Amino acid sequence: MRAVVATRLGGPEVLELQEVPEPTAGPGQVLIRVTSAGVNFADLSSTRGTYAMAPPPPFIPGLEVAGEEVESGKPVFAIVPSGGYAELVAAEERFTWDAEGLDLGAAGGYALTGLTAFHALRHVGGLQAGETVLMTAAAGGVGSSAIQVARALGAGRVIGVASTQEKRVRVMDFGADAAVGYEDEVPGPIDVAVDMVGGATFQHLLEAMAPFGRMVLIGSSSGEVQQIPSVGDLRMRCVGVLPFSLGALRAKHPEVFARTAAAGVELIRDGRLRPPIGMTLPLESAAEAHRLLGSRATTGKLVLAIKG
Ligand SMILES: NC(=O)c1ccc[n+]([C@@H]2O[C@H](COP(=O)([O-])OP(=O)(O)OC[C@H]3O[C@@H](n4cnc5c(N)ncnc54)[C@H](OP(=O)(O)O)[C@@H]3O)[C@@H](O)[C@H]2O)c1
Repeated sequence: MRAVVATRLGGPEVLELQEVPEPTAGPGQVLIRVTSAGVNFADLSSTRGTYAMAPPPPFIPGLEVAGEEVESGKPVFAIVPSGGYAELVAAEERFTWDAEGLDLGAAGGYALTGLTAFHALRHVGGLQAGETVLMTAAAGGVGSSAIQVARALGAGRVIGVASTQEKRVRVMDFGADAAVGYEDEVPGPIDVAVDMVGGATFQHLLEAMAPFGRMVLIGSSSGEVQQIPSVGDLRMRCVGVLPFSLGALRAKHPEVFARTAAAGVELIRDGRLRPPIGMTLPLESAAEAHRLLGSRATTGKLVLAIKG
């Protein structure tokens, strides 16, 4: 089968389209013929060697797919530990969901992205109806999904942070009430903030948090990990800081993840959570997809088209 392989550690240049042996489904797994695969920031971190959950090279990146279950022919979408950038992938049955009625060309970008946003706001941030929510990188894959999740969970006010005016227009299109730049004054107080950028952005947001506010830390795409203040400082602010990794939850607590994902999967299936696809590229352009995502040149979700 054709697959894109990370041949060694490095940037997009380490990705090569290759002919590789087909995977087989082990116990509790299904084999999926992939129609589309999502491209995630974590895939970039994997090839750079900075993603804790990634296998060592050579490996096939790709954490989410949609396609047809080989045995039954049923449409499915799934989260996989790796191997999504390929014509076939083996996925755990419990992390493979019915995609009946979904566009398989887009749904490869739904599961990891959508469920990360869902867990961040619902299970980690404990978002309550009427609360004010803010997300950084709001024009991106997880950011745009978080806007949709916030709406679905009944948020009062949704504020997106993005780097350019063009991106802020997209943030408003995706359903936010306000869009601001990283240096702008934050229209707080914020009850739940989802930060995936880190560095100075995190410090800036901290000042805008409401008492009882929850800051959910899911990434640091700026390259600078959030410097979490001391217990004493957070106590004086009455603010909680909550780091979260969907990959770690899936790997270390699979039965918990299968349960906590269920309501998020329903949001995807009923159409309230549909990560907006900003760009679709063919499998052989995976390196270009990594270049674009890593250079802040994308909005919405990036997917690779694998089977037409
Ligand atoms: N914890 C988890 O379980 C989990 C799961 C999935 C994703 N994530 C994290 O969530 C974040 C978003 O992932 P995604 O795949 O949806 O990517 P994305 O948000 O579509 O793209 C990354 C965005 O990060 C922002 N950014 C800020 N500084 C950057 C820099 N120096 N270089 C590149 N981008 C920068 C850019 O938006 P602006 O230009 O608007 O700043 C960029 O568009 C990543 O940090 C990822 O690691 C975490």
